[in-house]
Amino acid sequence: MFLVAFQYLTHKGIELSWTALARGNPAPSDQTVLTYLHIAAGALVTIAAVARIYLRFTRGVPPPPQDEPHVMQLISELVHRVIYVLLLLLPVSGAAAWFFGIDQAGLVHALLTNVLLAAIVLHIAGALFQHLIRRSQVMMRMFRPERL
Ligand code: HEM
Ligand code: HEM
Repeated sequence: MFLVAFQYLTHKGIELSWTALARGNPAPSDQTVLTYLHIAAGALVTIAAVARIYLRFTRGVPPPPQDEPHVMQLISELVHRVIYVLLLLLPVSGAAAWFFGIDQAGLVHALLTNVLLAAIVLHIAGALFQHLIRRSQVMMRMFRPERL
């Protein structure tokens, strides 16, 4: 979560480098650090996402509350899966643009960052809905893990 927030807050560096390179200019040297941080943090996101997906398949996730309507379970499952897919597609499209110079991949990358943002808004709205309106334990169990 913090790494993803970091990407949104610091993408300016790689964006400036990218636009300069696309116009055939050298990448601005004062943006080098931010540019490489974007790539490094993106790589960490990839590792974290792969690790989480692996754990999800091998250990599963805590069940939703017993009284949760089926349609809400489906929505939550869907939003989680969309987030995972985006957390994989973003680094892939970013790397395709940066390392292989594929312009369209850069466009896809920028587009997908907006889709991820929308998914995160839904995700946080869902967590708050659980906490404030349904008054379930779902949000708090994220911060206070249940004993196994
Ligand atoms: C989850 C991981 C990542 C997130 C959330 C993310 C987020 C972003 C954001 C918000 C932008 C600005 C897009 C805009 O123009 O509006 C951006 C641009 C860019 N990112 Fe990433 N990024 C991630 C991973 C990566 C990785 C791993 C690479 C390269 C190896 C990369 C390469 C780029 C490039 C080249 C741009 C400029 C392209 C453009 O603006 O069209 N990104 N990224
Ligand atoms: C204020 C911010 C956030 C809050 C309050 C929050 C809250 C939650 C809650 C309550 C769960 C469900 C836990 C459960 O079912 O026991 C969850 C799961 C999850 N969160 Fe967040 N979240 C936040 C930000 C984010 C961000 C920024 C991302 C990714 C970009 C993210 C990705 C995920 C994913 C992928 C899951 C599903 C885990 C799984 O079932 O495999 N969350 N979050």
